Amino acid sequence: MEYELVIITGASSGLGREYARALAGCTRTMVIVARRGERLKNLASEISSTHANLVVICETCDLADSAARDQLVGRLQQMPAGRTLLINNAGLGDYGEYVNAQKERVRAMVQVNIAAVAELTHALLPRLIEDRGDVVNIASLAADIPLPDFALYAASKAFVASFSEGLRAELRQSGVCVLAVCPGPVHTEFGEVALRRGQTKREAPLRRSFYTAAEVVVRESLEALAKRRARCYPAMKVWLAGCIFRMLPLWFLRFVLNRRPRRMASQLSELS
Ligand SMILES: NC(=O)c1ccc[n+]([C@@H]2O[C@H](COP(=O)([O-])OP(=O)(O)OC[C@H]3O[C@@H](n4cnc5c(N)ncnc54)[C@H](OP(=O)(O)O)[C@@H]3O)[C@@H](O)[C@H]2O)c1
Repeated sequence: MEYELVIITGASSGLGREYARALAGCTRTMVIVARRGERLKNLASEISSTHANLVVICETCDLADSAARDQLVGRLQQMPAGRTLLINNAGLGDYGEYVNAQKERVRAMVQVNIAAVAELTHALLPRLIEDRGDVVNIASLAADIPLPDFALYAASKAFVASFSEGLRAELRQSGVCVLAVCPGPVHTEFGEVALRRGQTKREAPLRRSFYTAAEVVVRESLEALAKRRARCYPAMKVWLAGCIFRMLPLWFLRFVLNRRPRRMASQLSELS
């Protein structure tokens, strides 16, 4: 895969940082976006040290801020033309019942997980079409199943998956590939960020065995992109879970979800 420009949102940690490392040899210019500028600079010097011809541009930007997004889009649109890969990766979650969610967190999830994906893609589509670029949208296995205690997050990822499929069909004749990546749980900072104040992370052994390494998510998704696939569920166990979730009738899902363990909810009521 060769690109002139690779743009990665949420590159200061986790999957975004791994995408930057994995794609450093496949592009002339890379734009990495996140709020933590120091982390971006460290990543830029790390990958530049092994890829002498690569130009890395650090964009410190709060994607939850629509004015900051507009300014970022303006700068991205000024970049020299050439085959571009846009990776909409930045995202965050919020564990717990929606009724107790903080307003700022609700707003940030809508802005980063949904609005930023929609707007960046829209702004860059003309150049993606012009130069046969590609789009990788990081959804989640949660896109396939409504999740109580993670309701807005799962719904935001259902948006990403649905948006990717619709856009892919629209762009069928253009040569632009739109790939939705649906990872299961991955050890990144995501879990810590999604915790609410006073919550501690307690995981069932079954869930612990369900984790996929960030490197595997990145490698399998880039392989899927190279094969021009529509969707990627990195790791066989996650792919299988996705198949099962999508086959379940809604009435059965409701039955199971209504009987979910109430660990998070009771933890929250202890706090309030
Ligand atoms: N880890 C998992 O279990 C898992 C599973 C399925 C899907 N995913 C998805 O994978 C993607 C990457 O998550 P991750 O696991 O790598 O988590 P992570 O380590 O927490 O990374 C999230 C990235 O998003 C950036 N970000 C968050 N809010 C932002 C904002 N307001 N403005 C700009 N950047 C922002 C963060 O940068 P700053 O904080 O520096 O701004 C960070 O670079 C997300 O879309 C997530 O939903 C994760």
